[in-house]
Amino acid sequence: MKILIHPDAARAAGAVADRIADLLAARPGAVLGLATGGTMEPVYAALIDRAGQGRFPAARFTSFNLDEYVGLGPDHPQSYHVYMRRHLFGPLGLPPGQAHLPRGDAPDLEAEAARYEAAIAAAGGIDLQLLGIGANGHIGFNEPSSSLVSRTRVKTLARKTVEDNRRFFGPGEPVPRHALTMGIGTVMDAAEVVLLATGAAKAQAVAAMVEGPLSASCPASILQMHAKATLVCDRAAAAALRMTEYYETVHPEGGAPQL
Ligand code: GLP
Repeated sequence: MKILIHPDAARAAGAVADRIADLLAARPGAVLGLATGGTMEPVYAALIDRAGQGRFPAARFTSFNLDEYVGLGPDHPQSYHVYMRRHLFGPLGLPPGQAHLPRGDAPDLEAEAARYEAAIAAAGGIDLQLLGIGANGHIGFNEPSSSLVSRTRVKTLARKTVEDNRRFFGPGEPVPRHALTMGIGTVMDAAEVVLLATGAAKAQAVAAMVEGPLSASCPASILQMHAKATLVCDRAAAAALRMTEYYETVHPEGGAPQL
């Protein structure tokens, strides 16, 4: 795993946007796997900025999001459909047919999961999968104990995840307890994976992912088995790593390797 520790969260998010912009400059029709959450907001803002500078053609890529809450339709204000339209697809002018998310309001969720997997395969698979990480080590909504070879399906959210995500909902508004999420096997099929973690609340999850055992207790630890996985983080999220001195020697301030 490539481990890039940036001095602060803004630079970490900018580095992720740069990686995506470089890929889209080289291959405008690339297939992106996209994530939601507070961590991704500065990434998408930076990416819109890069598109505005003409670094890549803004509206040629195809995307597949990781997950959606069960029971929320695509116009529900807290749905990931709305999040993506607001933070990325709208500002970039991405044609709706190129942006895919699972439908959390599908009448048959199992059929929707199978349809989503088939759509990813029909697009030729994901070139670059962007990931955040939950404080308990989840990726997408694959909670601890998820099968490490799972495919898109419904998962029950851990209490910690529900509490962490409550801030996006109004006071007294119920937070969904289930989600339709790409599986860990689906994520691992991507040609490249970039996980962004910022802030002290992610430090334990990051340490378990990078230096802990490969275990379903920390779903993100499966990235130890990916041939092209990069962790991009800030110093706060890196604080519980034991081998920081080594990572910073290889990539000072998250930069190019010192050979
Ligand atoms: C949710 C999403 C994940 C995301 C995580 C962390 O659970 N399903 O994809 O990584 O939240 O979110 P945040 O970036 O807000 O901490």
